[in-house]
Amino acid sequence: MIIAIDGPAASGKGTLARRLAAHYGLPHLDTGLLYRGTAAAVLASGGRLEDEAAAARAASGLDPARLGEDESLRGRPMGEAASVVAAHPAVRAALLDLQRAFAAQPGGAVLDGRDIGTVICPDAQVKLFVTASPEERARRRTRELDGRGEPADPAAILEDIRRRDERDSARSAAPLLKADDALMLDTTTLGVEQSFLAALALVEAKLRGRA
Ligand code: DC
Repeated sequence: MIIAIDGPAASGKGTLARRLAAHYGLPHLDTGLLYRGTAAAVLASGGRLEDEAAAARAASGLDPARLGEDESLRGRPMGEAASVVAAHPAVRAALLDLQRAFAAQPGGAVLDGRDIGTVICPDAQVKLFVTASPEERARRRTRELDGRGEPADPAAILEDIRRRDERDSARSAAPLLKADDALMLDTTTLGVEQSFLAALALVEAKLRGRA
């Protein structure tokens, strides 16, 4: 079974993807990390994020196995940088096979990102589109950054979220978009556990042909 989870920044899709993967015993790929890793590699080599060829080279040279260990990728600056390199078609093309191969593992997988249900796994059995209001997402991101000891100004975080939503949705290459057959989950008023139970109910309904 392939579960494709898409949604905007800080919508809770990553936490849901991890929980669903653990529940069903499936491997999970956080595809945002690939774009974060690409941006980090461009910057480390002294390149510019706007340089499509340099970013595509960095994407081709990624070692996905090592990305999960790198805490610096998860911070705010790298999210913003990732959103810039993710708009390059050549970067998306360089990361396509890796994501499709992950999804094609025997038994299936859970992938979360922006274009999983639309581009990477258009035939996924279950597609969720997870969202929440920009204000609530900004509150969550602020709490998360506070928890990691990164100073966070809530107004600046909200501004960040709006800018990233705009860039991720307006780009021409694989924009953030709900697939026609994706089930919508709005987590604005839901806590972590409630969101998980709601997502699980949607997946189960879909698997039983009731969604
Ligand atoms: O999910 P995230 O915040 O880690 O993603 C960082 C950026 O990477 C996001 O702003 C857009 C980009 N991204 C993408 O374009 N496609 C994906 N499948 C995942 C992330």
